[in-house]
Amino acid sequence: MRINTKYAQGMAALALLVSVNACKPKDAGSVVSGDAAAKVYVAPGKYDEYYNFVSGGFSGQLSVYGLPSGRLLRVIPVFSVDPEKGWGYSEETKPMLNTSHGSVPWDDLHHVSMSQTNGEIDGRWAFANANNTPRVARVDLKTFRTAEILELPNSGGNHSSPFITENSEYIVAGTRFSVPPDDKNGDVPINTYKQNFKGTISFISIDKNSGNMDIAFQLQGPGVNFDLSHAGKGKSNGWFFFSTYNTEQANTLLEVNASKRDKDFIMAVNWKMAEQLIKAGKGRKQAAKYASNRFDESTHTATSTIKNEVSVLDIREHPGLVYMIPCPKSPHGCDVDPTGEYIVGSGKLAALIPVFSFDKIQKAIADKAFDGEYDGIPVIKYEAALYGEVKKPGLGPLHTEFDDKGNAYTSMFVSSEVVKWNVKDLKVLDRVPTYYSVGHLMVPGGDSKKPTGKYLVAYNKITKDRYLPTGPELSQSAQLYDISGDKMQLLLDFPTIGEPHYAQAVAADVIKNNSTKFFKIEENKHPHVAKGEKEAKVWREGNKVHINMTLVRSHLTPDNIEGIRVGDEVYFHTTNLEQDWDVPHGFAVKGALNAELLVMPGETTTLKWVPLKAGMYPIYCTDFCSALHQEMSGYVRVSPAGSNVPISFSTGTNLPKDDTATAQAGAVKK
Ligand code: CUA
Repeated sequence: MRINTKYAQGMAALALLVSVNACKPKDAGSVVSGDAAAKVYVAPGKYDEYYNFVSGGFSGQLSVYGLPSGRLLRVIPVFSVDPEKGWGYSEETKPMLNTSHGSVPWDDLHHVSMSQTNGEIDGRWAFANANNTPRVARVDLKTFRTAEILELPNSGGNHSSPFITENSEYIVAGTRFSVPPDDKNGDVPINTYKQNFKGTISFISIDKNSGNMDIAFQLQGPGVNFDLSHAGKGKSNGWFFFSTYNTEQANTLLEVNASKRDKDFIMAVNWKMAEQLIKAGKGRKQAAKYASNRFDESTHTATSTIKNEVSVLDIREHPGLVYMIPCPKSPHGCDVDPTGEYIVGSGKLAALIPVFSFDKIQKAIADKAFDGEYDGIPVIKYEAALYGEVKKPGLGPLHTEFDDKGNAYTSMFVSSEVVKWNVKDLKVLDRVPTYYSVGHLMVPGGDSKKPTGKYLVAYNKITKDRYLPTGPELSQSAQLYDISGDKMQLLLDFPTIGEPHYAQAVAADVIKNNSTKFFKIEENKHPHVAKGEKEAKVWREGNKVHINMTLVRSHLTPDNIEGIRVGDEVYFHTTNLEQDWDVPHGFAVKGALNAELLVMPGETTTLKWVPLKAGMYPIYCTDFCSALHQEMSGYVRVSPAGSNVPISFSTGTNLPKDDTATAQAGAVKK
């Protein structure tokens, strides 16, 4: 019977193919799956439809791709230093990487959340988490630069982050590793986990206008690991859902000891209630030390402020604030559908996907349909919260995104596939292979109230044979699928930076017209700005030498500098005088132990340099800016320590004694 059916289908397909080939040659191109190339082809000079912001994992950075082409548009330095752009090396950006541990110049960036208004991506900011030294960052999508980094106390890793509420009131950060709180003595035996370790969730407020972040409050609860989360939306706005694992509270060999329970939990948090409790003064002030780093666009300079206190709500002291929902088994993704009614838990080790109902959860709470407590928190009965289960979806469900037609797409790590299912009837509709071991998925707007239904991107962990071999380390890979029809269609592979985890995308129109083209020089409030070449100067303050330098096509002012001594701290404060789009200059000095600078039009940026040997040091522009880019250079003379060569500086006037008269005509007017 089966064979007959398959045979019949095969014959029908063959018949279709033959008939199309036979009588409609002009349509042949649209019948074969060879239309994939046309679907991703963005002609030279044309723009992509979507910006795709992709986490860089262990690269610590955020990369920006165009979709559907998969073209890499930009790598935005966030948590890791980037000598290409001077990020973390320039004096102005060094404070951005400051923490209570000192400067942490790298991190492990896993998730991206774009700001939302009324549950739709508004294109203002992209938030990202640091999974190693707990931090969250805000990237300004006008400049595509990191504008703020906030450290999170009482946390040991920040994985369940930075998921956002539907009007960007908060992003959250649930600790990956429970640890003793910072105000307690953390110097305790590791095997006292159950007594001493706590799980903390930070609620980070976002200023509506500036985007500035602050820790509004923290929830302190049982020592579990928080994995992922999502805010409720629509009817469930006001709630947050967190997946947890290691509810066994194991402190060693988690592979075994944290996989014992048949079900872990999804933690449901009533954040509107938490907000009220904080307003009513119920927060306990707790000593904590954490850095708040902000970049000021008018001074082009970051400042780092160390803060000393957070407001903490102990979950057990506030009945009604938090409930536990049993979820099989070591849940990873915790995703909320566009209506806000369905909460999808994805147990990494489960053979089904449970879908919970927000209405049923509310009813269960009202009816007290509880199955005991977990560390003082009521546990809702599994069946009382459950809408239904997606049966036999595949192996190793991780993450779910949604489209605009009531469908969900879940990544299956172990069986390397994307599975499409209907949210209402929980029936599996389609499955396509990924190459290989898919982690996160992304549909543009796929975690918002307004998902789109055209593309899906799978971010894979293993590449193997997909690209030309590049030694033992291979590029990670993303794969683009067309999801506009009943069947998903693979369109494109593209390699990614670092290791991609979560990503988001938005229509290009939401962002592109707001993009900053250059910084207005008259608004530059940097203390060392030179707004014209006449303001360029060099002066000594003890062993510090400051150089206010200008960059313009195609010379540095000054370009002859003498009087620097070995051991001086030299500060090149470089201002790019250009007032036009796409005319950056670079700045580099021989022997610099840090980085180069890229200076955008109207911006001032500073490179610190400590020469260790007497000699002649060329300086030059590193960004090809004009036909005379190679001429955009100069010299710094370094004399031995204690020398009495006076400070002098000039451009165009420091001529050989014998031909001053002839060459002066070509000098740059000052
Ligand atoms: Cu300025 Cu090259």
